[in-house]
Amino acid sequence: MANVVSIAAAAASLPWDVEAVRADFPALAQLVNGHPLVYLDNAATAQKPRAVLAALENYYQRDCANIHRSVHQLGERATEAYERARRTAQAFLGAAEPREIVFTRGTTEAINLVAATYGAANLRAGDEILLTGMEHHSNIVPWQLLAERTGARVKVAQVNDRGEVEMEEFERQLSPRTRIAAFGHISNALGTVNPVAEWTERAHAAGAVVLVDGAQSAPHLPIHLSALGCDFFAFSGHKVFGPTGIGVLWGRAELLEAMPPYQGGGDMIASVSFERTTYNRIPYKFEAGTPHIAGAIGLGAALEYLQTLGMARAAAYEQDLASYGAERLAALPGVRMIGQARERTAVFSLVVEGVHPHDVATVLDTEGIAVRAGHHCAQPIMDRFGVPATTRASLAFYNTRGEVDRLAEGLEKVRRIFQC
Ligand code: ALA
Repeated sequence: MANVVSIAAAAASLPWDVEAVRADFPALAQLVNGHPLVYLDNAATAQKPRAVLAALENYYQRDCANIHRSVHQLGERATEAYERARRTAQAFLGAAEPREIVFTRGTTEAINLVAATYGAANLRAGDEILLTGMEHHSNIVPWQLLAERTGARVKVAQVNDRGEVEMEEFERQLSPRTRIAAFGHISNALGTVNPVAEWTERAHAAGAVVLVDGAQSAPHLPIHLSALGCDFFAFSGHKVFGPTGIGVLWGRAELLEAMPPYQGGGDMIASVSFERTTYNRIPYKFEAGTPHIAGAIGLGAALEYLQTLGMARAAAYEQDLASYGAERLAALPGVRMIGQARERTAVFSLVVEGVHPHDVATVLDTEGIAVRAGHHCAQPIMDRFGVPATTRASLAFYNTRGEVDRLAEGLEKVRRIFQC
């Protein structure tokens, strides 16, 4: 990992009490098929701490009102909680101002927003959009739609056999026509941690604007926007231990201000007449309609929880799980891991020779082990490695080495059942 040294230092100074952390997540303390749950599907969605559940309950039980429009007590409380969540997200990312934080439905909507507004306003036929071969569909399809509308062209920096994009390849695909470079910070399918600060520097030098898809990094790494240097950063609430249906788009204020609105409706206007409508200031210009108020408040609670835990400590603990898991799983005969990047998180994309990933996941489920089987919404990278799908175990800071052992034992059972 790029900041492994500082993460390791943080870990050495403060021990990680994983049992105390687990106690914050009620869903983890259940039996599934008669076994204690081993939840290893965190890249799909993460479990929620009590602090998030309490924030949601408090909003719906006590403060339930619309925001930015009611002068009554409940409306004021709800507005304050919603705007406090925005400030929390600002602090979590190290953004300069709260107005640079736009609440969206998630990473997917955030990327669509940038493509449909910044992209449509700035791209012309012949311009180029640079992606990498390991992107999630959410960071591919919005750009393809934009390319269709504008005549721009999508280019792809290819992935090597380890599951990395080499700097020479990234630079080779950049050109003076590159207007946007959009890439994931961490691959959801492989766990590769990309050198996004270096890529951003190169893309800026070529004159491109940079969007970082942080869906898989915000839950696992400390994020410092000033160190990344990008222009847009997107992440999802449900992957950072918050509610579903809420996420964040961060954008530089000057870019957000210059962009046309995304959707029309309430809250995004300054004034409306049939002759002429004017738009609200940022970030409200991009938050049309009654937003997911409870979601934003729950997301704020999740981010406050993470700040209390300390992201550097969490990342250091996960780094240990990543090394332990890679070693433990590599020792299993008949099990192959797709993606061997030098900088990786605790995501293991596995192929059990001769067994369909869905069968692997089904057997693991009988042991109470939750993993994801499929193409992980990243079909191009599956094609790159010549597999239609993998069985993916994705860990978080509440997982343990003992759970990695349970996964390894489960995979041994799969091989016994299928006699491979
Ligand atoms: N993008 C999510 C995943 O990787 C859903 O599973």
